Amino acid sequence: AEKKGRVEFRDVTFKYPGAEAPVLSNISFTAEPGKTLAIIGSTGAGKTTLVSLLPRLYDVASGDVLLDGVPVTKMDASEITSRVSAVPQKPYLFSGTIEHNLRFGKPDATDDELWDALETAQAKGFVEEKSSGLNRRIAQGGTNVSGGQRQRLSIARALVTKPNVYLFDDSFSALDVATDARLRKALKAKTRDATVIIVAQRVSTIADADEILVLDNGRIVDRGTHDELLETSPTYQEIVES
Ligand code: CTP
Ligand code: MG
Repeated sequence: AEKKGRVEFRDVTFKYPGAEAPVLSNISFTAEPGKTLAIIGSTGAGKTTLVSLLPRLYDVASGDVLLDGVPVTKMDASEITSRVSAVPQKPYLFSGTIEHNLRFGKPDATDDELWDALETAQAKGFVEEKSSGLNRRIAQGGTNVSGGQRQRLSIARALVTKPNVYLFDDSFSALDVATDARLRKALKAKTRDATVIIVAQRVSTIADADEILVLDNGRIVDRGTHDELLETSPTYQEIVES
């Protein structure tokens, strides 16, 4: 069967409600199942805004966002939620157990599925270190776990749902470089059939992506592989050197 999860942005322009100027202009790209698309750019460039348009946190002003050829504006919220898993830049955890947090998107997941997701997300050791395991309590907002642990639990939660599309908004930034590399290697093996879109700050996180979009001031200023961009993109070179 054909793989599902093809994401296409067609000439998308977006303004926040009440704002004058668009924060995204003429955004066009395609992200294919089995591939990783990365988005990089300085703070305020519009990366979070861009990835929020697929799960319809906001709707576009003009242009189209399509999932397997269907505009997301024509899809049910429940269909989008089951097919697209977004790990937000500021991941949220609920007050409750780790298990409760992990099952959020897929209440009928088996314990094996939860542990498998935790292993991929490099969070298994953290959950195993207390005898309460999956029943460990998380405080409201996840304030009793570190930022990196919150990110990894949030990644594990996304993995449990086995979506067609993963959106990782700066999800690896709180991890040390070695954990980041291990996590992405494990993730690659587990998400082979899915479309993966990664917003990153660090070039090392996305150097092996199939395509990288360089976003600046709401526009895609350059695109290509890491090696291509090193040759062609002054903006990318600046990010590499920063
Ligand atoms: N913005 C806004 N209203 C919001 C969110 C963002 O007006 N509710 C504006 C921001 O002030 C910024 C632009 O939209 O000028 C893009 O913001 P964002 O997409 O969050 O930028 P990122 O590239 O994600 O920035 P960062 O690297 O800091 O996460
Ligand atoms: Mg952001």
